[in-house]
Amino acid sequence: MNAAIRAVVRQADALGIDVVGIRHGYQGLIEGDWERLRSRDCANILQRGGTILHTARSSKFMEPEVRARAAERLREIQVDSLVVIGGDGSFRGAELLHREQGIRCAGIPGTIDNDLPGTDRTLGFDTALNTAVEAIDRIRDTASSHERLFLVEVMGRSSGMIAVHTAIACGAEAVLYPEAEDDTYGALVEQLKAAWGRGKKSSIIVVAEGDREGGALQVSERLRNDFGLDLRVAVLGHIQRGGSPTAIDRIWGSRWGAEAVKRLAAGSESFYLGAVAGELVAQPLSKVLEPHPAPAKALGELVQILAR
Ligand code: F6P
Repeated sequence: MNAAIRAVVRQADALGIDVVGIRHGYQGLIEGDWERLRSRDCANILQRGGTILHTARSSKFMEPEVRARAAERLREIQVDSLVVIGGDGSFRGAELLHREQGIRCAGIPGTIDNDLPGTDRTLGFDTALNTAVEAIDRIRDTASSHERLFLVEVMGRSSGMIAVHTAIACGAEAVLYPEAEDDTYGALVEQLKAAWGRGKKSSIIVVAEGDREGGALQVSERLRNDFGLDLRVAVLGHIQRGGSPTAIDRIWGSRWGAEAVKRLAAGSESFYLGAVAGELVAQPLSKVLEPHPAPAKALGELVQILAR
């Protein structure tokens, strides 16, 4: 996100446009919590995780009168365009702000879940994925030395994108995730039995926090009760949300930040940026209301095949 902020400020500077940075997302917009951002304010932030502007979840912004007040505040300081970095909720808010109040809005996809329609990637996903993979590679050493079963919980309250991609990259024996169609626990037990039958002594199961069973701790309880296994659980949690962003995330943050400003300056009204087949694309903000992408079924199946 910092790469995107830096690119917005510096591209705007190149075009002679002033930028105001709004702290704490929509909450800050409602409260007038902002500061002028200049090029030098964005020095040395490219390599930092999180966002220098801080963030917050704001349920209040879903109220039309609150959006009207926010738009009024923006007009008072002569801001006519907003660049919103975020996911589903942020884009829905931006779409409403544009439709009701005429504030021009550009969206930059920023969610580690990588579950927005109309884009193959979102900021933070690649960083979160690499963090999870590095952590599980370390866990694998203990799992194989002690010949143990590990359940590792990764983020994804309603998305299995991190879980499935992590599982492939780590050679996990199984993956449980919210969008899976099968009886996930039953399928897991079958896979474990097959692995034991093939002589596997240690296994790693990746579980998305929003898996239907209720996460890694719940699954571990069931496995303990059913098989008396001496297994271990690791919940990676917010470790995945921080740390220095990968080069891929920095590059797309920079490209999308600059592009958002160029398009707004050229008169675009309401859109969010994305990447499709490696190309930078723009979608109408209303596209965020479409069904959200889930991991391809074939990727879940690949985990099983490669665990043989
Ligand atoms: O929506 C992105 C996400 O990272 C989910 O995968 C995760 O469940 C959630 O945010 C965590 O949010 P919070 O930090 O508010 O608990």
